[in-house]
Amino acid sequence: MSIEISKKQLMQILETLDVGVIYTDIDGNMLYINELAEEIRAIDREDKLGTNVIDCHAIKGRPHVKKLLDDFKDGSVDHRHRLVRIRDKFFDNKYLVVREPGGEPSGIVLMSQDVTEKIQLKKKLDEHYQTLEYEIGKKSNEIEARYEEMMKMQQRLMHSEKMSSVGQFVSIIAHEVNNPLDGIKNCLQEIKEEPDNLEQTKKYSSLALDALTKIEEVTRLILNYARPDNYYMDEVSIKEVIEESIKFAQYKLTRNNIHLDAALDHDISVNGSRQHLAQVFVNMIMNSIDAINEKRDRSPENGNTNGSSDYVRISIQDCGEHACIKVVDSGCGIATENVNELFKPFYTTKQEKGTGLGLYICFNIVYIHNGKISVNSTPGKGTCFTIHIPKYSYSDVGKSMERVSELKDRVLQGYIEQ
Ligand SMILES: Nc1ncnc2c1ncn2[C@@H]1O[C@H](COP(=O)(O)OP(=O)(O)OP(=O)(O)O)[C@@H](O)[C@H]1O
Ligand SMILES: [Mg+2]
Repeated sequence: MSIEISKKQLMQILETLDVGVIYTDIDGNMLYINELAEEIRAIDREDKLGTNVIDCHAIKGRPHVKKLLDDFKDGSVDHRHRLVRIRDKFFDNKYLVVREPGGEPSGIVLMSQDVTEKIQLKKKLDEHYQTLEYEIGKKSNEIEARYEEMMKMQQRLMHSEKMSSVGQFVSIIAHEVNNPLDGIKNCLQEIKEEPDNLEQTKKYSSLALDALTKIEEVTRLILNYARPDNYYMDEVSIKEVIEESIKFAQYKLTRNNIHLDAALDHDISVNGSRQHLAQVFVNMIMNSIDAINEKRDRSPENGNTNGSSDYVRISIQDCGEHACIKVVDSGCGIATENVNELFKPFYTTKQEKGTGLGLYICFNIVYIHNGKISVNSTPGKGTCFTIHIPKYSYSDVGKSMERVSELKDRVLQGYIEQ
């Protein structure tokens, strides 16, 4: 069934469209104008039919329309889309070339659709977005300002926490320094009261001197420790460091008739600070000598004072990624309940003879070297300290430096987690 639409019906359709329609020949002479187009352009269609579409445009826009008609005619363009403003309204103007079945251009259709509402809506939306953007900008500036304030507060808080750590540390130092200071005061008081008693003056001035030495020792160790920057990490031979440490301790070993047995067959290189590593081994050897003397003092009847069966043994072993150093002695050993106290600052069983900072310092030096230190002890029989330090090829210099600065932050805290 074929349905044919009459010209009249077609005209009715064109007249009822909500689009303004103008049809021109290929030169732009208007052959049809629908009612809406008449209204949009504010023209009388009866008058304009047959005239050129160029004349329907404002003088300013006419050269563009002329150019467009030429382009349509020579076939370089066959459609155009423009947004135009006519009085207080916006129109989406579409120009389309109509072609004969053979392809020859026969006319042009100009369709104008009122998009005023759309444009106004878009304008409103743009305004809305702008306001939103402004609000978001304002809010994020506020958040940034608050964040900065929070950071400042946090820094102030950290500072005050540090201050309380300083307080803690200072009180520990004060305690360590106050005791001998009190002693010195008492000694001087006694001397002052009986200045002619030479015997007493001699005795008390010697005690005062001992107390001063103790204060000097504490402050020296603290200052030494409070400068973790002095870490010059380099390739260091563990064997050489141990040999140097033994030389340093030799005088005390000989004086106490203690034999030091060094099994240094494996020479392993580590990335370390020679001076600090030597400090660790000297501390260890000194502790072993003290432990042996302590055992001798506890049971002099064993007759070991000639040192024949007392020993300190140092060995180096290759443990894969680490150099493993063992310092073993035949000293008094450590009571099980005290093992966990060893590495804490100021823990000592030597009363005024020890500061209790030796192992604490050793622990931190080994920690900076990314190493580990552990202890195994049998009370009455002896002790073995084991130190693992990463070999030169496995060491991470960056990590060591990180630990130095971490420790620098923590140094005034006085304690380090073990
Ligand atoms: N080889 C050891 N054998 C037995 N006890 C030990 C040994 N090494 C350390 N200790 C115990 O651990 C304590 C702490 O040792 P640390 O070296 O830190 O301080 P200290 O030797 O007492 O004093 P100083 O600061 O003069 O070294 C010692 O007082 C001692 O009781
Ligand atoms: Mg010690």
